[in-house]
Amino acid sequence: MTIVVETIAALRAQVRAWRAEGLKVALVPTMGALHDGHVSLMRAALERADRCVVSIFVNPRQFAPTEDLDKYPRQLALDLDRLEKAGVHLAFTPGVEEVYPQGFATSISVGGPSAGLETDFRPAFFDGVATVVGKLFIQSEPDLAVFGEKDYQQLCVVKKLVQDLNLPLEIVGSPTIRDSEGLAMSSRNAYLSAQELEIARRLNKILRKAASALEGGADEAVTMAAARQDVLEAGFDAVDYVAARQSDTLAPWQRDTDGRVLVAARLGKTRLIDNVEISAS
Ligand code: PAJ
Repeated sequence: MTIVVETIAALRAQVRAWRAEGLKVALVPTMGALHDGHVSLMRAALERADRCVVSIFVNPRQFAPTEDLDKYPRQLALDLDRLEKAGVHLAFTPGVEEVYPQGFATSISVGGPSAGLETDFRPAFFDGVATVVGKLFIQSEPDLAVFGEKDYQQLCVVKKLVQDLNLPLEIVGSPTIRDSEGLAMSSRNAYLSAQELEIARRLNKILRKAASALEGGADEAVTMAAARQDVLEAGFDAVDYVAARQSDTLAPWQRDTDGRVLVAARLGKTRLIDNVEISAS
């Protein structure tokens, strides 16, 4: 039976009670509209901990005024059903006032891996993410928290947040879950028409082609230009970025180091992101 709590006080009391019993607690932060990608994080959490807490909160501070905050899919009853089936012990579903009471005036800004990529197109995004994730860590006091590699730059920013602020928890990165065609699962895929879905499914193949070209010794600038062209030819309307970076710091990629090819591209009104590994060996 999943316990549902809406207040920080109730969340903290339950987690503290578990930890007092010697139980290990994992947190999986989400914005709801749960899919198999989210559920895989809950599984990873339950493999490593005795209790799994999932937060569901559509965080207004990580949406720009022009973005889809009002349109973002909200389906709490369905989500709670998924949590129940996944064996999640506690759902934290606070309202906006609980997280950001009147007069809230603090922001967490992480440097390092937040530079470039998403930040070039969504300048306030990682401040919004770091602020809410930092608050969730302090509110729930977990032993560990699980994040998806799907949002690779976000995972790096969260690791840096925890390292730089000496927060006493472990961050676990978990692999991207894809549909049978390779499309990374995302709550925003619900916005895609049937025709757009066809196009979206081409993105991962293009990234994999670029990564294996780099692994095979191809020139980075030429490969990235070709990947950008491939994304446009696949039917995307615009490419925000396609870039090769080092996988731990997100500094420019250097041959013979592990890396990632990361992309953000626009299809109609939907913006999709994805990334794949560049293996050094
Ligand atoms: P949301 O987009 O709901 O994603 C919640 C978690 O699920 C993130 O760690 C994300 O990387 C992971 N995830 C999403 N799609 C995935 C997939 N296909 N495979 C594996 N993991 C996947 O990311 C956020 O929410 C927010 O920014 C949040 C961290 C909750 C802060 O508000």
